[in-house]
Amino acid sequence: MTTTDARTDSATQRIRHVTVIGAGTMGSQIAMVSALAGFDTTLVDIAQLPLDRARTQLWERVDRDVAKGRRTAPDVAAAKQRLTFSTDRDTVVSGTDVAIEAAIEDLAIKRELFASLDAVAPTHTLLVTNSSNIVSSQIADATRRPEKVCNMHFFNPALVMECVEVVPHERTSPETVEAITALAQAFGKTVVRLKQEIPGFVANRLLNAIRREALALQEQGIAEVEDIDRAARTALRHPMGPFELMDLVGIDVVYLIRMAEYEQTGDPESLPAPSVKELYEAGQYGRKSGQGWYSYTS
Ligand code: 3HC
Repeated sequence: MTTTDARTDSATQRIRHVTVIGAGTMGSQIAMVSALAGFDTTLVDIAQLPLDRARTQLWERVDRDVAKGRRTAPDVAAAKQRLTFSTDRDTVVSGTDVAIEAAIEDLAIKRELFASLDAVAPTHTLLVTNSSNIVSSQIADATRRPEKVCNMHFFNPALVMECVEVVPHERTSPETVEAITALAQAFGKTVVRLKQEIPGFVANRLLNAIRREALALQEQGIAEVEDIDRAARTALRHPMGPFELMDLVGIDVVYLIRMAEYEQTGDPESLPAPSVKELYEAGQYGRKSGQGWYSYTS
């Protein structure tokens, strides 16, 4: 296992097995990150199809890393051995040390899920959510272990992006924060800790400010999508423009994040922009569906 210091060792010493719930874009890459870092890991979903798709995409991704000399063949082979795929959530969670939830951004579903995880997980197991907009205080009281619940927020693509935000709620214990911080570091990530909860945390709030402005410029007819993206890339040296990034993250995710924030704030300012709503309702989710702000069919 890759560990960085003594604190990391002691805080993660009880973590042998990691479960990731949800085989979407984020969950699947988080599971691969965990397996590559040396943890026995199981990716869980309710259906077999997303698990099969995740395995194919992940294996392609890490094989490519070997071909390009970014990882060694033995490391990748060992990580593949450590990563398993399952639809039997209860059995997996009954033997896990940490469950990282990366399911849909829907509060009612997450509360129900956390109550079910709590019912079968060992008492020491930490239950964390990758959500950036649903703060863990909204979920923790669905469990009998609120002190072992917090947000552990990764960025897309999780195999590449260095940052993980660790966000406790008022009742999260310092031990949980330490253990999740150490786990993220053992994953090779850089941790940004928040002192208190706020929907969107730090990075997405910065990103949202840019996105809001980009959407306003486009909706007011000031500039085309391509030109706004070009400005972000060539004037600000962002790796991609705000519209390209929405297509990467998924228009569905962008839409649901705004709706989840609206549910929490009740502020109409939180609602998705009309153009995002339109794409969402047309099923144009970005890269994953072949069409979003840009077309990916070719
Ligand atoms: N999954 C895994 N690895 C990927 C990837 C993906 N989807 N896309 C690219 N990569 C890796 C690959 O190793 C790739 O090399 P390869 O194609 O030779 O194998 C390497 O990155 C370089 O990729 P590209 O040449 O295609 O393009 P870039 O150099 O522009 O890098 C990028 C791609 C890393 C995605 C970069 O454009 C970037 O950093 N973009 C910004 C991403 C960002 O802001 N993410 C945060 C989103 S907000 C969020 O996630 C919060 C959530 O709550 C919604």
